[in-house]
Amino acid sequence: TEFDLTIRGATVVAGGDVVACDIGIHDGRIQALAEHLPAGRRDIDGRGRLVLPGGVDGHCHFDQPTMDGSRMADDFLTGTRSAAFGGTTTVIPFACQMKGRGLRAAVDDYHLRAAGKAVIDYAFHLIVSDPTPEVLANELPALIDEGYTSFKIYTTYDDLKLDDRQILDVLSVARDHGAMVMVHAENADCIAWLTERLEGQGKTAPGYHAASRPAVVEREATHRVIAFSELVDVPILIVHVSGADAMRQIRWGQDRGLRIYAETCPQYLFLTADNLAAPGFEGAKCICSPPPRDAGNQQAIWDGLAGGVFQIFSSDHAPFRYADPQGKQVHGEKAAFRYVPNGIPGVETRLPLLFSGGVREGRISLPQFVELTATNPAKMYGLYPRKGTIAVGADADLALWDPQVEVVISNDKLHHAVDYTPYEGITVHGWPMTVISRGEVVCDGGELLAQPGQGRFLRCGLPRPAMPKSARPLFDGDLGRLF
Ligand code: URP
Ligand code: ZN
Ligand code: ZN
Ligand code: ZN
Repeated sequence: TEFDLTIRGATVVAGGDVVACDIGIHDGRIQALAEHLPAGRRDIDGRGRLVLPGGVDGHCHFDQPTMDGSRMADDFLTGTRSAAFGGTTTVIPFACQMKGRGLRAAVDDYHLRAAGKAVIDYAFHLIVSDPTPEVLANELPALIDEGYTSFKIYTTYDDLKLDDRQILDVLSVARDHGAMVMVHAENADCIAWLTERLEGQGKTAPGYHAASRPAVVEREATHRVIAFSELVDVPILIVHVSGADAMRQIRWGQDRGLRIYAETCPQYLFLTADNLAAPGFEGAKCICSPPPRDAGNQQAIWDGLAGGVFQIFSSDHAPFRYADPQGKQVHGEKAAFRYVPNGIPGVETRLPLLFSGGVREGRISLPQFVELTATNPAKMYGLYPRKGTIAVGADADLALWDPQVEVVISNDKLHHAVDYTPYEGITVHGWPMTVISRGEVVCDGGELLAQPGQGRFLRCGLPRPAMPKSARPLFDGDLGRLF
């Protein structure tokens, strides 16, 4: 056989091990892993490089419609471009149902938004905001069968939140059809009550966003949805966990033998509530929900990444420009915190921040890094073993890292369409230099080589972590379905 591309002499993280080998690629997939492979039609010298599976960002928002007049800065071109430059080769953004409309309409609309733009592969999660009888009985089951096998539900935000009864209904559909449910857990009524009291005291600056959503509010909703997971007997995944309180609830559920999975994000390791309390309106740059907490909670999150409370590390990239009447300042630069669009950018900095702070600082191992950022999200959302691993038969989605290079993060080096990064000035060690998607070089040495539209839509399989325990296959891949 002849390889289309051979990567020679690199250090490769494959299947939980760190090995020195060549990688032979043919027709977009990995065809061989061995010590000395014959030359390909093209060779890449991998000496001095660390070859990791391309990252799978299981939580990012691109071109997602909003209800308040704001606009997300990144579409599928700038969002996937930014992801790729940060070492990510698969993204899973959200097709969001609008209340009063169907889920199918959201999916159709989102495909139009993505068409012809992505430079790396993408799948969709759904957001279920209006679980009507039609959605529960027909639309959702049909979409799960078509490859939209994960969906997010909210306990907060007026235009998205479900009440407890609705959550139980939706969990029950997930159980019957084998889908993975992601939960945004914050108690909406507590937030509304606290927000009113703060506003009554004139406390409307961005910094008070954190005070309106304290850890107890997240802890309560986290515990509640864990109880629902037990009641319905279905696994759930708690997204963007911010600190020790919610983590204790998750650990409690996990220790009970419940399948409670959890995700955290860079903002809970590298930001604190102090960043929201910056002078003037600047703190709006770091407004996201749940809010970043304090140094003690940052440490708890690191411990949870190292100790197995978290399976997934995502960006929760939610891109709003700062100095923009369609961005953070959609209600002006003096707006009360409740009118500031929630979310921060981070799809490009996700992997370098965790690599530097985690692997280089000795807090997590290199195989743990790969599991948290690629393998586990691929498994959790039904894309494994095609994505998330370096193995024979897998898509040749690879990031060739220089593990030594020192980079001072600054927005002018990033490739998103946002006008700031909350991580400005942070020094990291290690950055992906060459990024390959299905055997094609997407980014190399700071240059984009892919064409818009090169990224393909991925239908997701039923996630193994969501399967009833009694029906689990022997293997994660399609072969496993035979057993
Ligand atoms: O504040 C955040 N995280 N905005 C993005 C939407 C979400 O809830 O994940
Ligand atoms: Zn061929
Ligand atoms: Zn959320
Ligand atoms: Zn999000």
